Amino acid sequence: MDELTLAPEQKRTESGAGSRDVLAGSGGHGPADIDRLIDERVPGYSLPAPFYISPELFARDLEAIFASTWIFVASTAEVPEAGDYLTIDIGTYSVIVIRDDDDEIRAHHNVCRHRGTRLLNDLSGSVGNIVCGYHQWTYTPAGDLISAGVQAPGFDRSCFSLRSVNVRVIGGLIFICLSPTPPDDIDEVAAVIEPYLTGHDIAGTKVAAQVDLIEDSNWKLVMENNRECYHCEAGHPELTCTFFPTYGYAPEEIPKRLQPAYQRYLDAEAQLHADCDRNGLPYALVEELSGRPTGFRIERAALDGKGESYTMDGSAASAKLLGDLDTFVLGRASLHVQPNMWFHAMGDHIVTFSLLPLAEDKTLVRTTWLVRVDAEEGVDYDLENLTTVWIKTNEQDAAFCERGHLGISSPAYEPGPYAPTESQVDDFVTWYIERLRAHKEKGVRR
Ligand code: FES
Ligand SMILES: [Fe+2]
Repeated sequence: MDELTLAPEQKRTESGAGSRDVLAGSGGHGPADIDRLIDERVPGYSLPAPFYISPELFARDLEAIFASTWIFVASTAEVPEAGDYLTIDIGTYSVIVIRDDDDEIRAHHNVCRHRGTRLLNDLSGSVGNIVCGYHQWTYTPAGDLISAGVQAPGFDRSCFSLRSVNVRVIGGLIFICLSPTPPDDIDEVAAVIEPYLTGHDIAGTKVAAQVDLIEDSNWKLVMENNRECYHCEAGHPELTCTFFPTYGYAPEEIPKRLQPAYQRYLDAEAQLHADCDRNGLPYALVEELSGRPTGFRIERAALDGKGESYTMDGSAASAKLLGDLDTFVLGRASLHVQPNMWFHAMGDHIVTFSLLPLAEDKTLVRTTWLVRVDAEEGVDYDLENLTTVWIKTNEQDAAFCERGHLGISSPAYEPGPYAPTESQVDDFVTWYIERLRAHKEKGVRR
């Protein structure tokens, strides 16, 4: 084994050939190897290869991250009526998210209480009650067992409700937590982010389009790629149509040729703040990406061009304003919540993104476009105009992530340093390691 697999700091901390073997590749990572990799994380550097390619690390991620933290799964617009449901698969878990007869959003494990059969197979649909296809045990959308055929005397239906999953709806965004003891900082986070969402009135929207993309990449590479725009100028010609060319520069570093663009940016921000104040919309940046179980970042920023929307020329894609907003020129309210969501709300539409890990090298990215519920396709919006920027950008990002995964799979990969513009990537990895350590301290290991 040579030392190609070690970053300089890791050379100082590794304690013998065993460490090098662990860092080198994907094969055979027992709990002790994984614990050591977690302990030896080098801040400021990308992670060693096993974090991205080892099946054992992936299994740890599912338990320590996806079964332990709040996961974004959908918006309320995806289940508008009582009985509307979605099924969400997270590793071997499957969860039903359903609107019950009292209009509450509920979540249940998609597992029959009789002999365990998966109850609902479709990705989405609508039901009166949830009926198991095997022996027809029947549950209400709230999860109560209401019919189980003929049972032995003394059978108590109330003991066999569906196993519920914690749900938290924040400003129309549905989060679930598979753990019976979910992180309780969700209330603090909700109190910060909800005011940014309220004005966009997600409850008053409908799904205009939804695209599922399966990327051949570890889920962390998908998140890391999303947390930096170092690659945007070269990689995203459609997205950068609405980015100011000074994006990513510190003010004192802006070259002379970009000074007029910088002034345009300052003017747009000043206008945005005035428009937000009038509409009661917060715009301050709040960034707490690590250091808490529910890491998040939210801000509102101006867009270049017409400044209205993520379209090729920056003009609104839907003619119907969301909520009671009085102008389209509201830039974008952008939210990011660890470990699996990002989101942009504009005056005319909203785009939500959720990521779900399928295997160590396969990740589902679901993109959903929401427009005002009474906006009509072909009249108020054109679907291609609405979706082009993010369909193209997602495809470009998928290619970057797949190339990243391939490179990291080579024995020649060694962790590299994050640039200053990649600070949010470092924050994401820091958060991830914090959660793995917290899980390890609980003594729960696979
Ligand atoms: S397993 Fe569901 S009714 Fe028997
Ligand atoms: Fe990108």
